[in-house]
Amino acid sequence: MTDTIDIAFGPFGQGGSGDLVVFIGDDLALGGPAREALGGGGTDLVARAAASEKFKGRSLSALVLPAPAGVAADRLVVVGLGSEADRGKIDWPVLGGFTASKVSGRTARIILDLPGVAPAADQAASFALGARLRSYSFDRYKTKKKPEAEDKARTTLTVLVADPAAANREAEGARTLAEGVVLARDLINEPPNVLFPEEFARRAGELTKLGVEVEILEPARLRDLGMGALLAVAQGSVREPRVVVMRWNGGPTGEAPVAFIGKGVVFDSGGVSIKPGGGMEDMKGDMGGAAAVVGALHALASRKARCNVVGAIGLVENMPDGASYRPSDIITSMSGQTIEVINTDAEGRLVLADVITHIVRSAKPKAMVDLATLTGAIIVALGQDIAGMFSNDDTLAEKIRAAGEATGEAVWRMPLIPAYDKAIDSKFADMKNTGGRHGGAATAASFIKRYVEDVPWAHLDIAGVAMSSTSNEINRSWGAGWGVRLLDRLIRDTYEAR
Ligand code: BES
Ligand code: MN
Ligand code: ZN
Repeated sequence: MTDTIDIAFGPFGQGGSGDLVVFIGDDLALGGPAREALGGGGTDLVARAAASEKFKGRSLSALVLPAPAGVAADRLVVVGLGSEADRGKIDWPVLGGFTASKVSGRTARIILDLPGVAPAADQAASFALGARLRSYSFDRYKTKKKPEAEDKARTTLTVLVADPAAANREAEGARTLAEGVVLARDLINEPPNVLFPEEFARRAGELTKLGVEVEILEPARLRDLGMGALLAVAQGSVREPRVVVMRWNGGPTGEAPVAFIGKGVVFDSGGVSIKPGGGMEDMKGDMGGAAAVVGALHALASRKARCNVVGAIGLVENMPDGASYRPSDIITSMSGQTIEVINTDAEGRLVLADVITHIVRSAKPKAMVDLATLTGAIIVALGQDIAGMFSNDDTLAEKIRAAGEATGEAVWRMPLIPAYDKAIDSKFADMKNTGGRHGGAATAASFIKRYVEDVPWAHLDIAGVAMSSTSNEINRSWGAGWGVRLLDRLIRDTYEAR
């Protein structure tokens, strides 16, 4: 939901109330500014408490003490950083998330000076980003708030650094990036009776406030465009589909944009090829790709990225009904290619196909990345901590891999070979919408490949990472908002650098 955390920067030595946080290595040595704040008595207390509590200063461990005499604070929180080698490769958002969790619901000053490492402004900003992401929880539908739940109180942090002005400048981008992730998380966590296609489109429309051009395509327009594949998926639901095209023009006029395409199936029952009941509730998250695209556009527009970016999302609900599409139907996509429907649960690729054709033809992007919770098979292959990437372009794939590594939203490249393409040839139409049990993520990617024409493209299958996400230092939410930070980073490092 909205922020429950306030973060400001200040200079070392700034006074205040609440807790005081300091960092310590596994040699139990404090940095200069921390020693100064604690004085001789405080420094000594930390050493004695560490010994009696068997606190070793290991990375991401903490010791919580009453504030020493002479130190104006409620509690003293000592956060471990591990060995000197660990300190050389600190994950700043993770450290920020961990630290925030130790002072959740409280006011605290954090002396962000690590023995041996003076954080740069962008690292201090990343620390703040992690703290913000950790503080997120989705409780919009909890009518009984637990009074004892500290997490629900506001957290107010003042991060003390050598150059607060520089940190403040960097932190503004981190703040709006966190907003983009939070927006994506909210969209994923919302139930489909609230977040149906029309409502999703309305929320995407709010990006206009940031200077994004938002075009919402209604069914009549989708029919005019010939989006027979997307419309076939939508026809079993009483909720009308929408396609939303979002344009951020922060680059030179006329320069080809980078395109982000998102699968936005607000609920995937499987349709006539209905899914088993167990776990079906998770399919409210089948719009995680679309959520990431909206969140990324929010972040890019907020920081006025110097790049032209077009985001496009296909919003539908996949339901069984008398009007549903059915296995054996042959549908005509916007590209003109025909598709034999084998399984109505392989609906995401049908939605993506038409949105991709529309963007390839109308926006002529110089690169295109689609994000989709496309297959259970990618979860079998890679698990829940890394996304699968398929690409027709080695340069783009390498840029995405690097952005994933830099943000911790890791991707692993998967192969695209002719055998997968052959597996989706159909007896009756140009292709069929499934390629059998084997290589399910790869045959799905091959299907999409038939729609990208000659655009450099990468497909991220995020079924494993977008929902029922792994709990970690920067995420406690069911929907992690995976991909927002990766896309922002890709634009920053590859398309804005000049
Ligand atoms: N939305 C699902 C994929 C999915 C599964 C996402 C589990 C997240 C968690 C997708 O539409 C789907 O149903 N795919 C089928 C394809 C099959 C019918 C070829 C699948 O993976 O089983
Ligand atoms: Mn499905
Ligand atoms: Zn789906």
